[in-house]
Amino acid sequence: MIPKFLILCLFCLASSVLSQSHDLVYCGSWRLSVETNNAGNWTTIPERCYEYVKEYMNGDRYLSDISVVAENALKYAKMVHIVGDGKDAWIFDVDDTLLSFLRGYQTYGFGAQAQNKKGFRRWALRGKVPALQSCLRLYKEIQRLGFSIFILTGRPETLRNVTESNLWYAGYDHWQRLLLRNSTDLSKSATEYKSEKRKELQDEGYRIHGSSGDQWSDLRGFAMAERSFKVPNPTYAVT
Ligand SMILES: *[C@@H]1O[C@H](CO)[C@@H](O)[C@H](O)[C@H]1NC(C)=O
Ligand SMILES: *[C@@H]1O[C@H](CO)[C@@H](O)[C@H](O)[C@H]1NC(C)=O
Ligand SMILES: *[C@@H]1O[C@H](CO)[C@@H](O)[C@H](O)[C@H]1NC(C)=O
Repeated sequence: MIPKFLILCLFCLASSVLSQSHDLVYCGSWRLSVETNNAGNWTTIPERCYEYVKEYMNGDRYLSDISVVAENALKYAKMVHIVGDGKDAWIFDVDDTLLSFLRGYQTYGFGAQAQNKKGFRRWALRGKVPALQSCLRLYKEIQRLGFSIFILTGRPETLRNVTESNLWYAGYDHWQRLLLRNSTDLSKSATEYKSEKRKELQDEGYRIHGSSGDQWSDLRGFAMAERSFKVPNPTYAVT
């Protein structure tokens, strides 16, 4: 005869495995809703998804998802007719697009608290944030195809020098312009500020074919690029 406590144990184990697999399915759906912008302005990762997001970011899947996005972008970029007047433009975001804060998030926890601004600043100020390799390759290819590259970041002007040197350190060069927030931009939402900057470029005659960013606020609003490429990021949302 099987002792009662053993049956109880088996039951506990089974129900814990079941609830973990529920979380796995739910959190996969949650991540999809974030990446497709169905989730809109979300604030923190649902508690039951902390583990899921941690594994996603630490495992192969995150890097694989990014490399597919980069392939998609490159495929489109190769189809663009480059006029040769220097006005065919591509926009890249900086944080968690060209540069990877993965190690910083590993230190501070993945979105368990809303994005840790102080931690981020400390990392940014060191100027040694590494490249996201798929984005670095994409950047070089886009450059080789003859696009003018604009780097549009929500970072303030006060971080211009360290941002520039960090981009060089990570392997980026020869961008057309690095755009940061001036003092009047600081109070604006990312969507508003980035849209205004794209509009200024359009008014200068640039044709914005593509835009790459890990936040929907990098991509949407007005004066949008012909094609937007959302780099995955389920750890925080900037609006
Ligand atoms: C940024 O770099 C420029 C040129 O190298 C220098 O003239 C300027 O003082 C630096 N600004 C700051 C805030 O460090
Ligand atoms: C900031 O940039 C905007 C638009 O590019 C401009 O209208 C504004 O005068 C600038 N503000 C400062 C303080 O430079
Ligand atoms: C999300 O945030 C942006 C910028 O703050 C705002 O314009 C927009 O209305 C917000 N959307 C929703 C659904 O709250």
